[in-house]
Amino acid sequence: MTEKLIIKGGNPLKGEVNISGAKNSALVVLAASILSKDDVVIKNVPDLTDVNTIIELLNYFGSKIERKSKGEFVINSRFINKNTAPYELVSKMRASFFTLGALLARFGEAQIPLPGGCAIGSRPVDIHLKGLKALGAEVSIEHGMTIVKANKLIGNKIYLDFPSVGATENIIMAACLAEGTTIIENCAKEPEVVDLANFLNSMGAKIHGAGSATITIDGVKKLHSTEHNVIPDRIEAGTFMLAAGATKGKIVVHNALEKHLESLISKMIEAGVKINIIDDKTIEVDATNTIIKPVDVRTLPYPGFFTDLQSQMVAFLSLAKGTSIVYETVFENRFMYVDELNRMGADIKTESNLAIIKGVPSLSGAPVKATDLRAAAALAIAGFSAEGETTITELQYLDRGYENFEEKCKKLGADIKRIKELPVLTY
Ligand code: EPZ
Repeated sequence: MTEKLIIKGGNPLKGEVNISGAKNSALVVLAASILSKDDVVIKNVPDLTDVNTIIELLNYFGSKIERKSKGEFVINSRFINKNTAPYELVSKMRASFFTLGALLARFGEAQIPLPGGCAIGSRPVDIHLKGLKALGAEVSIEHGMTIVKANKLIGNKIYLDFPSVGATENIIMAACLAEGTTIIENCAKEPEVVDLANFLNSMGAKIHGAGSATITIDGVKKLHSTEHNVIPDRIEAGTFMLAAGATKGKIVVHNALEKHLESLISKMIEAGVKINIIDDKTIEVDATNTIIKPVDVRTLPYPGFFTDLQSQMVAFLSLAKGTSIVYETVFENRFMYVDELNRMGADIKTESNLAIIKGVPSLSGAPVKATDLRAAAALAIAGFSAEGETTITELQYLDRGYENFEEKCKKLGADIKRIKELPVLTY
């Protein structure tokens, strides 16, 4: 059976939307639960296929996981008895690689398949491995497996060539139980890194400076139980804000931390959208009378403009009155969705990491296919604003990162439904 979204465009999005827990925090916090032998309670976990994958992986290692209620899990990893991850799980989701540092800290050895590239880029893990080596691990790659071993992890000073989110997180998890102090310089400042540090500190870790360019970790002997609420998903929040902008809508976004969205808010105001910060977790977006102005965007590591909102921003700017330039500096191949947007009447040219978006008065609905998780969201945004019907396939991407997407959009007045149909057989 193949699933597709059918969207009839033209309805301005209006109403209120509640933002779920952050996928990119939930995944790494769940992985970090391996570091404790006590019960760990994690709440506000979004119901996503990626979350199901990391839970499947923790179960495979031997963690006991109980789902207490919607979004709440109790995890006990005392009796973990495996430190080798199967290829089929890691190949499904590269974030499985974020268990490497925790397994190494716990067992002194771990084997995780080298994650392959993905649609948006080759996504190497050299920075992860350089960091673990600096802590005293021997690293080898054999038959596609990353093998790390260390009798003892010893704190060290590590400079990251690029502020990689995953590498920062893997190194933090390994350093938590290392002997001595680790200093990570030029590290990622994403809110999900801060959420991981807060989670680990609540378990007794000693992590300072998360959210800045230098993080210091004083190793401890063990980590104890805790209860943690995952932060709201800034990418989901930004996606709905841009959907309101693209449809001349007016929405209130609840449970979205305004301080995590400053780069987007600033760009949307520059584009002529009215943004009203009701409180630190409630944002009103009013685009009812907006003629979208063209703006230039450069994606950067946080707090710069998020690469994970790049495609949604381009969909929004495809309707601007003028030409915008978007420069993708984080991933090498994150414009594949542009061809699909152009099939809907957008006028976008890409040249290596640049997209030149010549705004058009309107888009027209068409059958399109998602090429990655955030591209799926961008095509939905285009569909909400387009004249006529848009059908989106390859929904597995959307389901990785958006909880109850159709329900939330329907509540905002979008004409959207998901259908299942037998695949068309071609001879
Ligand atoms: C995290 O991926 C997110 N995923 C991504 O979100 C997000 O796009 C990315 O950070 C950047 O913000 C999760 O948190 C699960 P990186 P990560 O390491 O950690 C290069 C989504 O849509 N690099 O910061 O894999 C890499 O090739 C996903 O939710 C190296 O060269 O991203 C890329 O060009 C997509 N060597 C850049 O750094 C390394 O060892 C950023 O990658 C590691 C990374």
